[in-house]
Amino acid sequence: MRRASFYATLILAWTMFAGSLAAETNPPIPQIVHTGSHYQLLVDGKPFLMLGGQAHNSSASNPKDLEPVWRSLVAMHANTAEVPLYWELVEPQPGHFDFHLIDSVIQGARQHGLHLVLLWFGTWKNGAMTYTPSWIKLDPEKYFRVRNEVGQPIDVISPFCTAAREADEKAFTAVMQHIKSLDESERTVIMMQVENETGLLGSDRDYSPQANAKYQSQVPATLMSYLEAHRGHLTPALESAWAAKHFARSGTWHDVFGGLAPETFSAWYVASYVNAVAAAGKHQYPLPMYCNNWLAGPGAARAGDWPSGGPTFHVLDIWKAAAPSIDILAPDIYIPEFLETAAAFRRPDNPLFVPETAFVPSFASYVFPDLAEFNGLGFSPFGIDFAVQDGKLTPAGKALAENYSVLQPLLPLIEKDQYTGKLFSVIQGVDNANVIRLTPELAAVTSYSPGRGFIPPVQQSYKEPRAGGIIIELAPNDYIVAGSGFRVEFRNLTGPARSPEFLSVERGTFQGLKWVPEQRLNGDELHVNLHRKPGILRVRLYDVK
Ligand code: DGJ
Repeated sequence: MRRASFYATLILAWTMFAGSLAAETNPPIPQIVHTGSHYQLLVDGKPFLMLGGQAHNSSASNPKDLEPVWRSLVAMHANTAEVPLYWELVEPQPGHFDFHLIDSVIQGARQHGLHLVLLWFGTWKNGAMTYTPSWIKLDPEKYFRVRNEVGQPIDVISPFCTAAREADEKAFTAVMQHIKSLDESERTVIMMQVENETGLLGSDRDYSPQANAKYQSQVPATLMSYLEAHRGHLTPALESAWAAKHFARSGTWHDVFGGLAPETFSAWYVASYVNAVAAAGKHQYPLPMYCNNWLAGPGAARAGDWPSGGPTFHVLDIWKAAAPSIDILAPDIYIPEFLETAAAFRRPDNPLFVPETAFVPSFASYVFPDLAEFNGLGFSPFGIDFAVQDGKLTPAGKALAENYSVLQPLLPLIEKDQYTGKLFSVIQGVDNANVIRLTPELAAVTSYSPGRGFIPPVQQSYKEPRAGGIIIELAPNDYIVAGSGFRVEFRNLTGPARSPEFLSVERGTFQGLKWVPEQRLNGDELHVNLHRKPGILRVRLYDVK
């Protein structure tokens, strides 16, 4: 071997060795593990549940505006910040990238001990194109828009515009490359939201010539095979639309879906576009990726009143078929039917993650059923920037802080016990008492203190905190009861009608999975009472035979 090539080989070997050493010393990349119908988000190789909060839309355009975000999240005991990244500022000129805002977001989160979920405001934001760069907005020939039924262009990029999709893929790829270079040694960023509330606001489908040609073509074979394979298990709206067409095995969109055709068509092509963007980004740095959505909610009569084709409930199956690179389809829940919506999105093929919900006192306790019965991966109210005002928490901030502070020490236990049937949430509903069946023999009867969250049936105010908490079975007759605003009576469900007696009641906390008692409650305090003060109680019961 000549001397020059000997040195070249040596350098190459060293580079490869150093590279593999770096890969070995980096913490493992965050990932979602899916076993059967169970899901876990792993961060640093361990299960992680997100107690989050999302910044207002414009707060990440200047690092100064993120200061209140960090302050609020720390005061509320959150562990994750959701912060947007804007295509228009990341790529002000085609191919010229500016990452200084990303750098400061990552730095800010690290300084405050928080993880990050970054939100890519790219082609879509709330069913429109407002975050696309000026050079996209000003070139409608190349980056053409959706046309409505009367042929007018609207404020949405057409999902059939290949040039826009390729530009978005390129920008998102650059973003993911940059995040990798900055963060693979620390893994502050744990998940990416691809786009924001996708779909077509203002039209049920695209009526551009390109779109019309596709609409008259056959439904793609991949979607038909998915439908066949999942027949009987599709969302009710999709199943009945297809049933009305006698479960047609092929045909145009109208032949197969009838009245639901414009929305299913939009869902397939929006999801395919978003999938391409996500796949390009994952190719650089495969973080878990999700899409949030604007629900087809109250007051919206037809697709287009909500962004048509976004992953709202009734077209979830279309998204599952079209977007395998998206790990989670996630609801933004601002409507009072939080629990019903969570139940609809929690499916064997989709974990529950609530990336946005109302930041009001009455919604803060929904974190408990999210993590307990729905085995959710996280919870994150929107617009938390000013939870601290004049050095004090606002009512919404206080309600969330109480719940997050109780949950923080319980997270390892909850992570271990999801999917085991040992987690029960306490959530004040429209009644003033709930019966929670812990086992066939034992119930927890919860009641809520007057003045703190008594919610008269039906007209429930967003301003009233809703009592909430979690009950965790450690062992038979051995329970953790945590939260605030309620008390619990235990009742035997079989045998003589009497309650089990207390062996002990302790107030305390957890270090990892170890119970650390702080106060023994007896005498006047021998109750399971979290009316006045949020906290964690351990209750041991016994039956007098
Ligand atoms: C849902 C969007 O996803 C957020 O970015 C924000 O616009 C909120 N709506 C405002 O309520």
